[in-house]
Amino acid sequence: MNKSVPANVTIVDHPLVQVKLTQMRRKETISSDFRRLLKEISLLLAYEVTRDLALTEREIETPIERAMFPVLRDREPCFISILRAGNGILDGMMDLLPSARVGHVGLYRDHETLEAVEYYYKVPSDIADREVIVVDPMLATGHTAVAAIERLKKDGAKNLKFLCLLAAPEGIAEFHKGHPDVPVFTASVDKKLNEHGYIVPGLGDAGDRIYGTK
Ligand code: URA
Repeated sequence: MNKSVPANVTIVDHPLVQVKLTQMRRKETISSDFRRLLKEISLLLAYEVTRDLALTEREIETPIERAMFPVLRDREPCFISILRAGNGILDGMMDLLPSARVGHVGLYRDHETLEAVEYYYKVPSDIADREVIVVDPMLATGHTAVAAIERLKKDGAKNLKFLCLLAAPEGIAEFHKGHPDVPVFTASVDKKLNEHGYIVPGLGDAGDRIYGTK
């Protein structure tokens, strides 16, 4: 939708991603379909976000002969889910890269101080040595994503990417201000945020739609 984004924002505009996203946006799409579509889109987004994983060659033996073939050069990436909606993206990512490590970060916003408060944090001890892909379906105000990445950087993560399904221009700007070094991958940059912090036109509350809560 809105294509004027910083250079390190990639909009994954593959037709399958876009038509599945349209289905997810429909208000009549029920939770089970929403979850399935999110998982399917996540596979396609994971494909894009891992496109530049470094390879090396190793000798293996096929039934015919020994020869050199590509394998991952480094340790498998680490996926970090921002709770709770991030877990909806994680499912598809894990299907594609089952040996990836996984961490979870839980943050809520204190209504008085407006600071992000951490209520859960569990990540692999070696995130400094892995590519770290942080996932959350919605980049809305950007505050949670900025705080999560800050926390991970404090723990030594330096090779980071952020993957979401939808972003608001306001969220992209806030994220870029906080972490200009972290590339963002998204299926769409929508029009704006509304006064309640929802992405417009968006798809509503991603967590509620994944888990059927309200
Ligand atoms: N979080 C959501 O789930 N939806 C929005 O539109 C914004 C933030």
